[in-house]
Amino acid sequence: MNRQALITGGTKGIGLSVANGLLKSGFDVILTYGSDSIRANEVKQDLQQKYDSNIVLLQADISDLNSIEFINQYLVDNNIALDTLIFNAGLTNRTIFLEMELSAWKTIFDANVHFPVFLIQKVYDRLKIGSSVIFTGSLMGAQPHSVSLVYGITKSTVHALVKNLVKFLEPRKIRVNAVAPGFVDTEWQKNKPADVKVSINSKMAAGRFCEPDELTNVYLMLVENQYINGEVIVVDGGYSFK
Ligand SMILES: NC(=O)c1ccc[n+]([C@@H]2O[C@H](COP(=O)([O-])OP(=O)(O)OC[C@H]3O[C@@H](n4cnc5c(N)ncnc54)[C@H](OP(=O)(O)O)[C@@H]3O)[C@@H](O)[C@H]2O)c1
Repeated sequence: MNRQALITGGTKGIGLSVANGLLKSGFDVILTYGSDSIRANEVKQDLQQKYDSNIVLLQADISDLNSIEFINQYLVDNNIALDTLIFNAGLTNRTIFLEMELSAWKTIFDANVHFPVFLIQKVYDRLKIGSSVIFTGSLMGAQPHSVSLVYGITKSTVHALVKNLVKFLEPRKIRVNAVAPGFVDTEWQKNKPADVKVSINSKMAAGRFCEPDELTNVYLMLVENQYINGEVIVVDGGYSFK
């Protein structure tokens, strides 16, 4: 029987690259997404042609906490216990601080913090003994964000969660870690002006954005390595060198 993985935001960008990596390693995958059903179905068809594994799509908005029960019910109905749970999807809001509304602030906290915390609580018994939880954090959780306070704070919280959850997941020997990317060439970055990208590139030793595939083996290492626990692994191309 294949090992089982659930990846939030698994239909594009970083999540899709990680999904490919897990499928190559023989996992079945449940890929959640937010709204782009057309793309999600194309991705599923494409993956299904490449791999024999079971591939499931779930539309589950991380800013709607009802998604927690929806995902749990899917696992219960299909009697699935997870070997790895990857909280990859994240939201941002770039409204300037002085105009930020509390309701919009709370939406980002729901998506980036409350959703993973309470999904872990809900599916705790469905996380296999010795399984692995992995978050996608961000370099902007380790350094102040220049535009979005709520993004920086929620990603910092994700990094803090990784450390704090170790104790609470230890009874089932579940390891919890995060990958904190710098700047990755995905749709997430599509609206960034070219001159801003040039400026960012000049601050990185790598001199360019990361390709999503360059992150995949970091996630796979965190799935497989039984001794790394409570760590946030920054993968930023040497952003701090200038
Ligand atoms: N790209 C970067 O430079 C960068 C850097 C550091 C950290 N990150 C983090 O990496 C993660 C993934 O980003 P990415 O660059 O791979 O983005 P992406 O290419 O835009 O992919 C985002 C994925 O998340 C899903 N998603 C979006 N909104 C959602 C919602 N409300 N509920 C559930 N799923 C949702 C998308 O599905 P739909 O389109 O169907 O909604 C898609 O599958 C995020 O947590 C982000 O903060 C990215």
